[in-house]
Amino acid sequence: MDANATTPLLPEVFEAMRPFYLEHYGNASSIHQQGQQARAAVDRAREAVARLLHCRPAEVVFTSGGTESDNLALFGVLAAGDHLITTSIEHHAVLHAAESLAKRGVEVTFLPVTAQGLVEPAALIATLRPNTRLVSIMYANNETGVIQPIDALAGIAHAQGALFHTDAVQAAGKLPLDIGAHGLLKDVDLLTLSGHKLHAPKGVGALFVRRNVQLSPIFHGGSHERQRRPGTENVPGIVGLGKAAEMAGEWLKGVGPARLAALRDRLEEGILAQIAQTGINGAGAPRVANTTNIYFDHVEAEALLIALDLKGLSVSGGSACQSGATEPSHVLTAMGLTAARARATLRFSLSKLTTEAEVEEALRLIPTAVARLRELSPAQSNESAALTI
Ligand SMILES: Cc1ncc(COP(=O)(O)O)c(C=O)c1O
Repeated sequence: MDANATTPLLPEVFEAMRPFYLEHYGNASSIHQQGQQARAAVDRAREAVARLLHCRPAEVVFTSGGTESDNLALFGVLAAGDHLITTSIEHHAVLHAAESLAKRGVEVTFLPVTAQGLVEPAALIATLRPNTRLVSIMYANNETGVIQPIDALAGIAHAQGALFHTDAVQAAGKLPLDIGAHGLLKDVDLLTLSGHKLHAPKGVGALFVRRNVQLSPIFHGGSHERQRRPGTENVPGIVGLGKAAEMAGEWLKGVGPARLAALRDRLEEGILAQIAQTGINGAGAPRVANTTNIYFDHVEAEALLIALDLKGLSVSGGSACQSGATEPSHVLTAMGLTAARARATLRFSLSKLTTEAEVEEALRLIPTAVARLRELSPAQSNESAALTI
């Protein structure tokens, strides 16, 4: 139950990729047939990603993943003297890129969020300046699953002449992504995707760059990806991303999303009903169907994570990218949680492969593990320490 950290390759994705490792291993820039087979495969994958997004194939730039796409979006359009607006709950790929840009003369504003984890359109309106060049606000948060009102936020940015980027890494494959003229994301200029969050391999991603947006490359080399991202294409990875995008598009049209939401709701209801002093962070806000972020007061989330891992249940405390860090999650802190409650929080993230039996098994394991840890809670163990002295 840690699909927001990563997802397994689907067998169909793996099978689509296999020939491009073993037989059609050509360089997509070569003129000979081997090269042209690779080029054709990259083009087909670009069309598949474009269909998922409802954009033109030429607007899709393949990258090495979500981190690179976020960096390309920010560094590719901003220069000293520009103003960037982003939020305090972004993934570190955006947060740290913004901090780095601030050191290079870009003015940066980090918008706060409400207790539910939402960015308020009024806060964006109040922060826009004549030199605001880019607004970057994630679509779905990786920790809480909270979905931002991107249509409203991007519309506001556009009305002021600013470009709009959204990190859609945790929305792709979970929500329809329509950047077409009549779509919810029609005012989005740049959009980040990562392969490994939607059953494609790690190390491949894409950045949607709307036609007419001037983007400077952050790498320097050949003229790949229409001069926007040099480097020999990762053909098998790109083929995998294309196949996964195609499968995600099909899945979104079927009963899958409702089934996934029902599993997540069952997990939440089961935990809240069986365990006292628990609650959902981001409850009440729109959330993607696979994610729940739950606090278990008086429990150290890290200890609970380890206890559950020993029973075969993989979950995450905060976000996987920060694991090992002792700081409470910046997302939960921005939502106003106390450090204690943030440290008592676990993220459960399901995927389309999660079964009902797995959810029932989790509901059997979690209450027992929480009860054990609460018996050893710091308050009680301090008391017994005092008694021993
Ligand atoms: C919201 C978000 N953005 C960006 C990334 C980074 O993507 P990648 O792992 O492909 O670099 C992640 C991965 O955790 C993410 O959740």
